[in-house]
Amino acid sequence: MKPVILAGGSGSRLWPKSRAALPKQFLALTSEQTMLQETLSRLEGVDAREPIVICNDSHRFLVAEQLRQRGIAHGGILLEPVGRNTAPAIALAALHALQSDADETLLVLAADHLIKDKTVFQQSVKKAEQLAQAGYLVTFGIVPDCPHTGYGYIKASQELDTGFVVEQFVEKPDMSTAKEYVDSGNYFWNSGMFMFKAGRYLEELEKYHPDILDICKRAIETETQDLDFIRIDADTFATCPDDSIDYAVMEKTEKAAMVPLDAGWSDVGSWSSLWDVADKDDNGNAVVGDAILEDVHNSYINAEGRLISVIGLDDVVVVETKDAIMVANKNKVQDIKKVVNRLKEEK
Ligand code: GDD
Ligand code: MG
Repeated sequence: MKPVILAGGSGSRLWPKSRAALPKQFLALTSEQTMLQETLSRLEGVDAREPIVICNDSHRFLVAEQLRQRGIAHGGILLEPVGRNTAPAIALAALHALQSDADETLLVLAADHLIKDKTVFQQSVKKAEQLAQAGYLVTFGIVPDCPHTGYGYIKASQELDTGFVVEQFVEKPDMSTAKEYVDSGNYFWNSGMFMFKAGRYLEELEKYHPDILDICKRAIETETQDLDFIRIDADTFATCPDDSIDYAVMEKTEKAAMVPLDAGWSDVGSWSSLWDVADKDDNGNAVVGDAILEDVHNSYINAEGRLISVIGLDDVVVVETKDAIMVANKNKVQDIKKVVNRLKEEK
């Protein structure tokens, strides 16, 4: 089994810490280790070959350095000249892995998730491997606790040896649909991690998106490797459609399975989810760095260099970095995307 670490996202909802030059997966947000390093160290108890990390070309040195820091052996850093989302990224990794083993199984992991219980995660991976060997495209399902619209939803049906057949997969439904799903009690969230035989993923991609497969095949045909870095043909890959595995394959395939995962998973997708998973004081405040709080409750404070002082506010997020300060209502932090978009427009 070969882990594939997806590390090409932008993480814009964690602005101002997460930036285009230093997105979320390369930050240490929940421990001393960066999210990427956390992801890789979670694999220590899994019987796996050296992982492939796939990321944007512009982050190559960051990735190489973060792997080196922890002494993590890897099977190459595959560089995307442009981001085309996860369906092509996984296709490239699958095509690359098949060059050395025609029957390789991939464990696809996001580089920016938190999993509190490693042992439970590793047990679920073992269960998933059995289903992947049987030809399934395996997802890891999380019991939902709210109608979040940023996730995929999975309806499980028939029980298999180590999981369930997926009856329906719906990526990012609207709020009323998400509410219906959560109220029904029949749906899981998609954790965004997958396991399948590389060849099975490519077969399904060929069925539903032959254009993506064709471009990825041509882009990787001329693959070169220097030191850590695996490079592909930039002009060819630039013509690839932008699509996620969730829309391109998982919503369509008839051969999906799900293994439930109850391991304290969080995709730390926003400042409020970081507050959710953080240790809090008696007033429900999570504080990173220097802060003086007076009559403040259920808030998240992150000070990089300067002292933050807050008085008489509840449910507030304050994040201070060298060149920006963000203050938000904790229930409105999803709107940070709007700020980031405005910054992009003004550039
Ligand atoms: N290499 C590479 N290239 N990685 C990418 C790219 C890309 O173009 N785009 C995104 N990634 C990485 C991100 O860094 C992240 O680790 C992972 O792929 C998933 O991408 P996100 O952009 O974070 O996806 P999402 O959060 O909107 O949705 C996915 O995850 C949810 C759970 O967190 C989906 O799988 C949902 O169904 C799922 O619920
Ligand atoms: Mg995500």
